[in-house]
Amino acid sequence: MTYYITTPIYYVNAKPHLGHAYTTIVCDTLTRFHRLVGDESYFLTGTDEHGDKIALAAAKEGVRPQDYVDYVSSHFKVTWPKFGIRYDDFIRTTEQRHKDTVSRFLDLVNRKGDIYFGEYGGLYCVGCERFYTERELVGGLCPDHKTKPAYIAEQNYFFRMGNYQDWLIDLIRSDPSFIRPERYRNEVLSFLSEPLEDLCISRPKSRLEWGIDIPFDRHYVTYVWFDALINYITGLGWPEGGLYHRFWPVAEHCVAKDILKPHAIFWPTMLKSAGLPVYRHLNVHGYWQMDEAKMSKSVGNVVDIFTLRDEFGTDALRYFLLREMTFGLDSEFSYQRVLERYNSDLANDFGNLWQRSVTMLDKYLGGTLPPAALAELSQDSDWERLLRELVDGYSDDFRNMRPSEALRKAWDFVGHLNKLIVTEAPWVLARSVETLPRLERVMTMLVKGLALLGALVSPVMPGKSAELWRRLGLDPDTMSLDSGAISEALSHGRRISVGEALFARAEREESPKKAARAQAAAAPEESPAPSAELSISEFKRADLRTALITAAEPLPKSQKLLKLTVTMGGEERVIVAGIQKYFEASELVGKTVVVVANLAPVKLMGVKSQGMVLCASGNDTLALLVPSREMPPGSPVT
Ligand code: MSP
Repeated sequence: MTYYITTPIYYVNAKPHLGHAYTTIVCDTLTRFHRLVGDESYFLTGTDEHGDKIALAAAKEGVRPQDYVDYVSSHFKVTWPKFGIRYDDFIRTTEQRHKDTVSRFLDLVNRKGDIYFGEYGGLYCVGCERFYTERELVGGLCPDHKTKPAYIAEQNYFFRMGNYQDWLIDLIRSDPSFIRPERYRNEVLSFLSEPLEDLCISRPKSRLEWGIDIPFDRHYVTYVWFDALINYITGLGWPEGGLYHRFWPVAEHCVAKDILKPHAIFWPTMLKSAGLPVYRHLNVHGYWQMDEAKMSKSVGNVVDIFTLRDEFGTDALRYFLLREMTFGLDSEFSYQRVLERYNSDLANDFGNLWQRSVTMLDKYLGGTLPPAALAELSQDSDWERLLRELVDGYSDDFRNMRPSEALRKAWDFVGHLNKLIVTEAPWVLARSVETLPRLERVMTMLVKGLALLGALVSPVMPGKSAELWRRLGLDPDTMSLDSGAISEALSHGRRISVGEALFARAEREESPKKAARAQAAAAPEESPAPSAELSISEFKRADLRTALITAAEPLPKSQKLLKLTVTMGGEERVIVAGIQKYFEASELVGKTVVVVANLAPVKLMGVKSQGMVLCASGNDTLALLVPSREMPPGSPVT
């Protein structure tokens, strides 16, 4: 099978920001997914360099347009690889190959009789590079730029777009996934329920010179959108060349909703007029917003992707963007969300699964999987079905442009494996030779599950997944979603190396809001309802010990938290407890209490808390659990 995906070509009047990065990372991820499942794939991105907007930006900088576009375009070109993006081609609309393609395309449409010369007056937004009808404006302003469009009247060339209205409606109706998700298909159909006007496709050189000449009238340049959309076939070498024939029939465009109309209406009708087949799917996503406004250079609320990358790493940033945004809907960006997702999904769920599994493998089985256990596991039909359903569901999500769903499914599997550790308790199984076969089975499930997870996350986190495969003793170049292939690779019995944490926890001063939430969570009245049943092995995971409180003081600015210093048999720790309302700090010092010693550390109001003090809670009262007779600090509570 073949696969071709494109990003919009970005205007060079702004440097790449998080919004551009999202679309480009989605396309890179999809390309990597298709390569992983064996499809021959091609990924095109690039820059849109003509038009009023660019000419104005260059003039503002006091440089020639060509120098200006060379500079900004190269910035895009070198930025993407820094985010793990591997495009196959980077197209610039000022390249000769593109100018030739646009000329050829215009000639075809002209010969078809679909271009005429006429006069038009209308409301024009320079930011969007297009005319607006009155009904598209919001309070007389451009809905995107919130500026008043200028009235422009001039003689120009027009494309008979209106002739293709019925054809386009039929096309969209007959193919429900042509524009997806459905909300955008409906939006386009609703737009097409009104008469479709012809499209002005030229600008007189007397007003704008910065564009591609109209081949049949040298006094005019091509309207920037007509020029830009054609990039998608220039990049494939249309009309000659194998690339075009191989990839155009499967073309997937990926854009945000701001440019729905040119892609859903102008482009298919242009293709139809020129006698070319239309693309396969138009995939439309929503906006990244900040404070509920679309992130954009003109609003000035853009997020610097380099800062985020430096703090969290390329892979984690890619994971966040793809997991957080439901493709098609808007998403509010916040630094706090990145931090939370990083710590919970990556450091905790995934990172700990890795660390615990391979540490136990090392400890109990000498770091290698017994080949017999691998072979046996392949005969377990329930386990194999689980893997198959996971891979099928995940692949289906990627094929249907639901990247966040695909990742959610992978994380359900992370949860499944983490639960396996809790319910099977390998440290208990390791105590007796009788349970050795079960231990081997469980460890094999964990390691094979991790290898599969590595492959599942590889389109999104190529760096981390390759690292994970290497540590498992596998060659990342042979990465596969196929259960048999993974077992075969693992059966060569290489030693698995534990290594450092895959995702080290991100520690950072909490924002006051987050601290307030964490504080509330620490308060006893908010403790969750007890869950139904707990197996003995689950319970045994809690490391309960006696601890002597050696110091206690209220946390500044907090009405709930006390900072306790405890000692547990030679080990000193700080525990932040939400018990200020119930105890004087001084009355706690010298008491021996029971603490949960292996609780993941959290930062509360800037203080790292390493454990939890157990209390019995009643109606607005709280009692410390204390041993009934004197016990040395650090005694296990069993
Ligand atoms: N040059 C045109 C596209 C021509 S394609 C033939 C253009 N360029 S742009 O630089 O404005 O890029 C718009 C695209 O950037 C959006 O469609 C989207 O892919 C991405 N995004 C820019 N800001 C964004 C957000 N705030 N949120 C999500 N995506 C955003 O339009």
